[in-house]
Parts: sequence; C-alpha cells; structure tokens
Amino acid sequence: MDFELTEEQRLIQQTARDFATREIEPIAAALDKTARWPSELVARMAELGFLGMAIPTEYGGAGLDAVSYALACEEVSRACASTGVIMSVNNSLFCDPVYKFGNVWQKKELLAPTASGQLLGAFGLTEPSSGSDAQTMQTVAEKQSDGSWILNGSKNFITVGPHADHVIVFAITSREGGKAKHTALVVKKGQPGYSQSPHDEKLGIHAAHSCTIYFENVKVEKEYVLGEEGGGFKIAMATLDGGRIGIAAQALGIARAALDKAIAYSKERKSFGQPLASFQAIQWMIADSEVEYDAAKLLTLRAAALKDRGVRHSAESAMAKLYASEMSTRVTHRALQVFGGYGYTTEYGMERHYRDARITEIYEGTSEIQRLVIAKTAIG
Ligand code: CAA
Repeated sequence: MDFELTEEQRLIQQTARDFATREIEPIAAALDKTARWPSELVARMAELGFLGMAIPTEYGGAGLDAVSYALACEEVSRACASTGVIMSVNNSLFCDPVYKFGNVWQKKELLAPTASGQLLGAFGLTEPSSGSDAQTMQTVAEKQSDGSWILNGSKNFITVGPHADHVIVFAITSREGGKAKHTALVVKKGQPGYSQSPHDEKLGIHAAHSCTIYFENVKVEKEYVLGEEGGGFKIAMATLDGGRIGIAAQALGIARAALDKAIAYSKERKSFGQPLASFQAIQWMIADSEVEYDAAKLLTLRAAALKDRGVRHSAESAMAKLYASEMSTRVTHRALQVFGGYGYTTEYGMERHYRDARITEIYEGTSEIQRLVIAKTAIG
C-alpha cells in the first residue's frame, strides 16, 4: 500500500494552497460577513481548471483524478468553505454525472462549457417535503407526443442555484405498481416557467448562495434527458457517492484552518505566566484533533482512490463524509475553545469555521443517512 501522492497530485495540492492563501483567504471573512457571491474566485477557479478537475480535457476539464480534486477542494475550503462547496457542486454534482451518464452530444454541449467554467451547474434533488427520503419527491415530468417533457414542481436548498446556468433536476416520470420511477433532466435557467426564490439566509457558508427553484410547465426537450428514462434515482445516488468525497474534503479544509489557527494561538497566548500550548489540557485537544483530522483524510483519500479505480465506493464515501463532517464539528469546537472569548468574537474568524463546519453534517445526506448507507453495506 502506497500512501504517497504522485508528483502531479502534490503539484495540484500546492497550486490550490497558493491560490487559497493568496487570493481567497484575504477576502474570506468579508465574503462571509456580506454574504457576497465570490464571482472573481469562481472565474479564477475556471482559469485554474478547478471546476471540472476530473473531466477529460476533450470535454473541457482538467483531465486529473478524484484524489487531486479532493486535495484541491480541501485547500480551497481551508480558506473559504463557501468557495469550496461552489467548486464541489460544479465538479461532483453536475460535471461528474453528465460525464458518466451523458451521451456525446450532452458531453459536448452541456459538460464541456461547464467543466471549463463558462457555465455553472447545480443539482436539484431535495424538495420542501423530501430531503433524506429522496424517492418521495413531488416534482413530475410528463412526456409529450414529440418526446419532450413538461416539468412541474420545485427543488429547494439548491446550492449554486441562484447563479447556475443549468440544473440537473430529478422528477417522477412514471409509476410501476405504485412505485415511482424517476428521470434526470438537465433544465436550462431562464426559460418560461422557471423561477427562483431569493437566496437562503443560513448559519454558515454565507457566500455559497442556495435557493428554491420553481418549475411551472417548463418544457424540456428530449435531448436533455440524462441517462435512461426511469433510471434517475440511481443516477442521483451514484452522483452523491462522488459528491460526498467533495464534502468530506470541504470538512477537512474547515477543520485544518481552525486547528492551524488554534495551534498558532496556543503558542502566542499566555495564561498563568505560560503559553497555552504548555498546558496538557490544550495539548490533548490539539492531539485529539490531529488524530481525527488524519483519520478523516485517509478515509477521504481512500474513497477518492476507489473512485479513480472505477470501484463502487458508496460505503467508503459515506464513511469519509460521516467521519470528516463530525470530525470538523468537533475540531472547530475545540479550536474555538482554545481561543476562549476571542474565539466567540469575529476577530480571529474562529466562529466562521465553527458555523461553516455544521453544514457538512447535513447536506449531501445527513450523518444519519451516511450511517444508513454504511449499515446497508455492512448488514446487507
Ligand atoms: N449507486 C447506484 N445505485 C444505487 C445507489 C448507489 N450509490 N444507492 C442505491 N441505489 C439503487 C438501489 O440499488 C435501488 O435499486 P433497485 O430499485 O433496482 O433495487 C435503488 O437505487 C433505490 O435504492 P434504496 O432502496 O436504497 O433507496 P431508498 O429509498 O431506501 O433511499 C437513501 C436510500 C440512501 C436514504 C437515499 O434516499 C439518500 O441518499 N438520501 C439522502 C439524499 C441526499 O443525500 N440528499 C442530498 C441532496 S444534494 C445536496 O445536498 C447538494 C448540496 O446542497 C451541496
């Protein structure tokens, strides 16, 4: 077993680290404070090839692998978790399924401009009354005599939704023996019947705008059906297997940022005449956090490596996402504690990491759903 990154993976990691340190970190607190969409960072990510990292170059991507993507997503999220999830949605939730399930026309027309960052994509699975139990969605699409579809319904908490040029929407398209069959449709923004709410106000990831999208008799031409008719739920699940690697990487980045700041602060700040770092209580918090961060990183890179080998990685992605997200909550909690009262203020940005970590336990499947996926694999 080889734990070493390849030279190319190290180079990507370093490129992402430099970009995050020089261009993202200086504005991250302000983005959080004003909930401003980071259009300049999205444009830079497009230039760097970070919006379609594991997509072949012939379809507008950077032609890299899932491991490189996870490494870069961690670095970007270390500076700004909002920018990290914007990157993750475009890569994992739009480009990956279009590459995997799309036909050549869809790869040329829909994937290539999105992987290169000319367009942005989003993923519409969740609805106001169907989150964890995704199959119970209400959105429907009815097939017309010319093969096109008429779409009705709504999708909520759609990250990147307010800025997306197109969204993969999952809709019920038939019922067999009372069981709903779902189909994935790529829906372009701005056509008649397509509307969206103002962006959601959230606890964290303020700059990663999300919204509700409404579809009222939206016409979707037959060319925009992704994969097999009726096979949409499996596309959603397989997509989330990859998406959860991105969220695990985001959780790693948030934890790393908080932990690095806590370590630096513990060496500077004195209490009872000594640096905080000399107290065993602080050392143990840091030691526990380092162990948990490392364990989460290994789980994340294992899931990414399995994805690169084309091996099914549902349970491994769920393990990585479950452990990394809960780790991130624990690590940011401890790091804030090291800062004491200063951690609770906005001065050091610790409260931003603490708030941002929390979403990683919720989106792309709650911790409870990850446990369900893992248990299904373990028990059968
Ligand atoms: N890959 C391929 N197929 C899969 C699969 C996978 N990973 N997982 C399940 N399937 C298949 C099953 O084999 C089954 O196929 P058959 O009908 O042929 O037997 C079918 O899909 C249905 O599977 P289940 O019976 O397991 O489905 P379920 O209704 O019990 O649901 C669930 C399973 C794991 C709970 C699923 O509903 C789920 O993942 N829920 C969470 C939803 C979620 O993560 N939402 C996140 C929204 S996106 C987001 O958050 C984006 C953002 O903001 C950043």
